[in-house]
Amino acid sequence: MTVLEAIQRSTEFLAKKGVDSPRLQTELLLAHLLKQPRMRLYLEFERVLPPAEVDGFRELIRRRGQREPLQHIIGSTSFCGFEMAVSRDVLIPRPETELLAERGWTFLNQLSTISPQPSAALDFGTGSGCLAIALACKCPAAEVYAVDISPEALALAQENATRHSLAEHIRFLQGDGFAALPEGMRLDLIISNPPYIPSGDIASLQPEVRDYDPHRALDGGTDGMDYGRRLAAEAAPFLKPDGRVMLEFGDGQAERLREVFQHQKWIVEAIEEDYTHHPRFMVVRRLNSTADEPGAAGSQPR
Ligand SMILES: C[S@@+](CC[C@H](N)C(=O)[O-])C[C@H]1O[C@@H](n2cnc3c(N)ncnc32)[C@H](O)[C@@H]1O
Repeated sequence: MTVLEAIQRSTEFLAKKGVDSPRLQTELLLAHLLKQPRMRLYLEFERVLPPAEVDGFRELIRRRGQREPLQHIIGSTSFCGFEMAVSRDVLIPRPETELLAERGWTFLNQLSTISPQPSAALDFGTGSGCLAIALACKCPAAEVYAVDISPEALALAQENATRHSLAEHIRFLQGDGFAALPEGMRLDLIISNPPYIPSGDIASLQPEVRDYDPHRALDGGTDGMDYGRRLAAEAAPFLKPDGRVMLEFGDGQAERLREVFQHQKWIVEAIEEDYTHHPRFMVVRRLNSTADEPGAAGSQPR
């Protein structure tokens, strides 16, 4: 079987199994197996694959046909340009969360231009560690903390931090939300992509998500907003006066979450859209922060 024949047959097979973008998925898996860039395949269409490669490829395609995510088969994904190991213990980092990360590191870097104090940030529900790692790398002067309830997720997050030489820069804490934080901790930024799928919607998610992402990383309670409510109710004592909470949320939750935060004396500074123009994360600060004093420059940090 040639490279081109293998690609064509496997594309057809994955399409029948309902896999999105079957040709791209096929090429990525073959490139992974052959340890070469995908575009290289185009120069080798006529090459005959030896039996060992055919067998290896068949196995990868079989797994993908069972709707195992590509990232699990390959073992990693890219987040903000950083390679992150993934497994069934963590949510596969999503592209929209990169926008949240960028907003976070931009805020921390602004702080560092106006205050000599190192800033402090918490990634609440760190999973693979992707947000904490992006912040630590882009803001070398910041103290970064990462909390997760899952010891298995934290072990992988630590592995990812080590992979990027950031193990010393991030403090990983295991426990249930803010209960895991040391007494008296005050943060400039709490950033979170918490579980936000309504419990009743999980069964109808696509199999790659429903059967392979940990349910603890998906389930946001009856309306998907349990963690938003929790942050609105519990985050304030851990935040410095002009700190920010940056929170990702699910489809259709923006306005209800705005009300939740406003009811708990937060100001919703921004609601940002994702790449597909859906409202996807919000930036909030406390109502009594110095930014609210007369003459203060509105949304300027500190
Ligand atoms: C949606 S995943 C996000 C993972 C990662 N931050 C990302 O963006 O890919 C949510 C994470 O929150 C963690 N989590 C769930 N409940 C928690 C709790 N009560 N306290 C701390 N972490 C929790 C889950 O284990 C999971 O790793």
